[in-house]
Amino acid sequence: MNRHLMLAGLLMALLSPLHAQPTALDIEATDFDCLSEMTPVRGFFIDNLNGDLEATQAAAEAPKGATYPAGSVVQLVPTEVMVKHPKGVSPATNDWEFFELKVSDAGSEIVTRGFEDVKNRFGGNCLECHAKAEPQWDMICETGHGCDPIPLTGAMIKVVQKVDPRCEQTQPLSEAERQLLDHLKPFLQ
Ligand code: HEC
Repeated sequence: MNRHLMLAGLLMALLSPLHAQPTALDIEATDFDCLSEMTPVRGFFIDNLNGDLEATQAAAEAPKGATYPAGSVVQLVPTEVMVKHPKGVSPATNDWEFFELKVSDAGSEIVTRGFEDVKNRFGGNCLECHAKAEPQWDMICETGHGCDPIPLTGAMIKVVQKVDPRCEQTQPLSEAERQLLDHLKPFLQ
């Protein structure tokens, strides 16, 4: 090999770790599942696409908050998901990617996805709300973490979770839940 080429190659090999871009996870609609197949933590559901559910659970249960590990999937309602990419993929969102899904008994379809510009069906920007969580909570809002509240009560969230159309098994609803669902239906389509 020509000496200059060799030198250039050596130099590139030495420099490349400095320029190495963290690799984003490859995420598809089929990665998202029925909520009751996920692991419940308080009111929401978690999973880990890298098989490291324990690390995600430890972060979700850390009493003073923690940074979620790469691969973490978090859902509150069937149609909205946050997935954690490896560190450095998107510093502005703490490496979270936001997804708005369309769900049916055929599974999940990705309607929109991305980092800073994803909006939910009501026009709210995911990041704008989630970034208001105090830093130790890694953009997870729940209640009391500093985010503006969503206009759904705990009972409403529970019904929406129970009727996730991706689940093979339907969960029984109480009469009160059935009535709530009737009120919510127009917003779920
Ligand atoms: C109006 C502000 C607002 C917008 C807009 C918003 N969220 Fe949230 N989100 C919240 C709040 C508040 C909670 C916690 C609700 C609760 O637990 O009662 C939440 C909960 C969640 C959770 C469960 C984990 C957590 O943070 O508690 C996920 C996942 C989530 N949202 C994803 C999204 C995605 C994806 C979008 C955009 C498509 C989005 N959200 C848009 C405020 C918002």
